[in-house]
Amino acid sequence: MDLDKVVCFCQNVTNGMIKDAVEAGAKTFEEVQEATGAGTVCGACAENVQHLVEQFTKE
Ligand code: FES
Repeated sequence: MDLDKVVCFCQNVTNGMIKDAVEAGAKTFEEVQEATGAGTVCGACAENVQHLVEQFTKE
């Protein structure tokens, strides 16, 4: 996976930033939203962010 790829364009949040948030203790989409701001504006990225959270919490 490209960790520098932007997943949330509204907040300019990358895959790596989602990973960091999960590693820092965020376990749900809501917690990652709080930590990174991803998915808090237009919501178009929500499904992708959700998938990333699921993937990283399994790692
Ligand atoms: S692209 Fe993530 S909130 Fe708009």
